[in-house]
Amino acid sequence: MKFRSLPEPGFAWPRWPNYGEEEAAAVSRVIASNQLYAKEEVLSFETAYAQFSSSSYALGVGNATQGLHLALAALGVGLGDEVIVTPYSWISSASCILMQNAIPIFCDIEDKTFGIDPIKLEECISERTRAVILVHMSGYPSRVHEIKTILAGRNIDLIEDASHAHGALAAGQRIGTVGRIGVFSLHQRKALAVGDGGIILTQERELYEKIRRLRSFGDQELSYNYRMSEFAAAIGKVRLQNLDDDNAIRRRNHSHLTEELGDVNEIEVVQPAPSDTAVFYAVLLRVHGELNARSKRLARLQNSGLPLKQTWDPLHRHPHFNPVVYPARGIPWQMDNYDGPMRDKIYAAVSLPVVESLCPHGLWELPVHPPVGDAEIEFAVEQLRHVFK
Ligand SMILES: Cc1ncc(COP(=O)(O)O)c(C=O)c1O
Repeated sequence: MKFRSLPEPGFAWPRWPNYGEEEAAAVSRVIASNQLYAKEEVLSFETAYAQFSSSSYALGVGNATQGLHLALAALGVGLGDEVIVTPYSWISSASCILMQNAIPIFCDIEDKTFGIDPIKLEECISERTRAVILVHMSGYPSRVHEIKTILAGRNIDLIEDASHAHGALAAGQRIGTVGRIGVFSLHQRKALAVGDGGIILTQERELYEKIRRLRSFGDQELSYNYRMSEFAAAIGKVRLQNLDDDNAIRRRNHSHLTEELGDVNEIEVVQPAPSDTAVFYAVLLRVHGELNARSKRLARLQNSGLPLKQTWDPLHRHPHFNPVVYPARGIPWQMDNYDGPMRDKIYAAVSLPVVESLCPHGLWELPVHPPVGDAEIEFAVEQLRHVFK
């Protein structure tokens, strides 16, 4: 195979999302209706998403960050409560805990699915633990059933941040329906992309009603305006019809990369657990080798036109949990009535060896959304093989 040191003229990794006439028609329909804030389009998108997910209820929101905040608010998590969360995620998975003035407890990840490690989870549970937020990163299901079993009978609620995992299955069950609440992002970069948007799933009528009240000016308790727009819902309905096909293409691209890179030292194409069906919002590559060499390789690959990026820094080191400016709402783990494990600790100093060894340099993400297909995957393989030879 001949190595192309530079992309072919005109080569560009396909853009995502690939909107077309149907999305344009959906937006025009909303404009023509003169009903722009949440009404019929949102209702019908919610019904369609609930059906797609085999979920009893679905609620559209403005984005997943709002959805995660609503989840904790609806479950009554607040001052003095601890919420166990993965340190490998986007900030929203953990900042929502501060929005309720509760205390995040970061639990290390396991090094296969890169979700919360069920064994370490046990060690993080205290009498203050009220909820666990796990994340199915890049569309690889976490060990959600195992974690649910650990929490059973303990009065600790499970929330799935399924922002990357639309259509994924854990042991045959739709992601987002295993925990009490599942939250999906519909941000432009996500596998079901509407620009900005989010969906919350729950199987419980009372919880559904509570979330609905908190979402839009419920009058008895502090509530929000976290509604989805009609535009987002109208686009969402179109995208949902393509989701299974889009996911099939992502899976095919993942298999293709797996076949072609199996013999390359220092790169591992990350595989989901055999019982699960991942959707590969991005394919994860685990990269080994010396740190400096990894950075140089990544820069060369990016220069060649591959949209590869290393993953995020671990969240326990994020400034939100290591504030340099005293926040007006206070610091929940420094309040007088809190005597839990974070009382006199500094988040950045907590030792989480697995996530610290992997994030940000040890995991690279390659988006493989359609129309990425054989030509792009072969190009990626050529570049990776060359750089890692
Ligand atoms: C894992 C995860 N959770 C939550 C969010 C927040 O999503 P949104 O942008 O819809 O608020 C993101 C966004 O990137 C994410 O990646």
